[in-house]
Amino acid sequence: MKPAEAYRWLLDYSKTTAFYESMMGLLHWDQRTYLPKGGRAHRSEQIAAMTSLVYRRATDPRLGEILAEAEAGKSRGEDLSDEAVNLREWRRNYDRTIRIPERLAVELARAASEGELAWQAARKENDWEGFLPYLERIVELKRQEAEALSKGGQEIYDALIDDYEQGETAGKIEALFTKLEGATFKMLEKIEAAPRRPDPAVLRGDCPVLAQEAFIREVIGSLGYDFDGGRMDFSAHPFTAGIGPGDVRITTRLDRESFVMGLFSSIHETGHALYAHGLPVEHWGTPRGSSISMAIHESQSRMWENMVGKSEGFWRHFYPTARSYFPWLNKTGLDAFLFALNEVRPSTIRTEADEVTYNLHIIMRFKLERMLIGGELGAADLPDAWNASMDRYFHTTPQNYSDGVMQDVHWSSGAFGYFPSYALGNMYAAQFYAKAEKELGDLQEMFAAGEFSPLLGWLRQNVHSQGSRLLPRDLVKAATGDELHADYLISYLEGKYKKAYGCHERN
Ligand code: CO
Repeated sequence: MKPAEAYRWLLDYSKTTAFYESMMGLLHWDQRTYLPKGGRAHRSEQIAAMTSLVYRRATDPRLGEILAEAEAGKSRGEDLSDEAVNLREWRRNYDRTIRIPERLAVELARAASEGELAWQAARKENDWEGFLPYLERIVELKRQEAEALSKGGQEIYDALIDDYEQGETAGKIEALFTKLEGATFKMLEKIEAAPRRPDPAVLRGDCPVLAQEAFIREVIGSLGYDFDGGRMDFSAHPFTAGIGPGDVRITTRLDRESFVMGLFSSIHETGHALYAHGLPVEHWGTPRGSSISMAIHESQSRMWENMVGKSEGFWRHFYPTARSYFPWLNKTGLDAFLFALNEVRPSTIRTEADEVTYNLHIIMRFKLERMLIGGELGAADLPDAWNASMDRYFHTTPQNYSDGVMQDVHWSSGAFGYFPSYALGNMYAAQFYAKAEKELGDLQEMFAAGEFSPLLGWLRQNVHSQGSRLLPRDLVKAATGDELHADYLISYLEGKYKKAYGCHERN
């Protein structure tokens, strides 16, 4: 085939694969929302059949041949045309997929799904011993996968990170995390010595489900979530399902005693959905029209959840609405409410962590999984290592395995290399936000006036519409004019918490 013809073939092939994947997305969405118990076994088989169909397409030797034909005569330089971007990503995916022997790919898929089920059961029973063999198995297989993907001269953990964050390495992440860790410890010292303390009780009160749902819909609609292009349902673990153009769904989970959890998890998923909605529709089904990485995805969800949703401007606008839905809020002033919302309190549970201590949860997991994959730490020794880290970072240790080393699903299903993207996402978010504010003016004043579209417009133009055109670090450079730094996040957090806690400089 001539290169142009080969490229057209690849476009068609890519879109067809994307249709299968989006059908799978629908199967997963249904499984986590409405699937009756009796249909679970059949659903597993449907998903297995689709997975093998997609796997066969991704590893088809014919794909490799036509890819080479499309690349003929093209240099892989700085070209950022749609065609060059698609070829770059197809090449990367194909090379990664065929490096993993089929036997290993099949074993990994099985160990991941068995591991996750074992984790669910073991976590309920606090049964570390029962879970350990599954974890040992998945660590061993992921080490084999990392070996197969590694390009000599690098630590094998890098190959797993690269799956979520293309171009990222443990060494580069470590440099960012070391800086963030030091600054976080300093912040925590100041916060501990601060004269003021929030009262978290002001966040609790009767929250009827219907009122919560109506409030959430009003909020996320104002932020820009398009209910004609999506829907909101309920699930045990909130998630976003980008099914296709015009269909990006979110789920939420409510707490009858406080609307806070449901609201912020909904805003978080809305951030993911806004990104998915903003991807260029005309490139759907190709890399050019797809999101670039987990960290960039998390930068969007975390920016809306924390930097927007927990800000003063946001609540100056929404507090009267919140009071109309939850009248008991009338006895609490805006300042006390906002302070409680932004309380910093070290906790053993990652998902309950505040903005300041959250990154420490990630940094400790990054260090532990790096040692696990590097072979310096055995799975059997993980609980001791976990508790030692907890003690070092939070001066506390968990009461049991379930709220300690077994609290997260990630490792059970083999998602090693995933955790760093959360803290990277916070850094990207702070850097994007700082630049958007520089260009747009005082964002807090806009939020206070209920204006969220300027920020969304900036993100649409600089992040969403870019799809996979640029790798994450190039994307942030193009959007903000600066390399990725931890400083943006650090100064955002310092500014916010100094103000909230009334900390004084003691240097
Ligand atoms: Co998220």
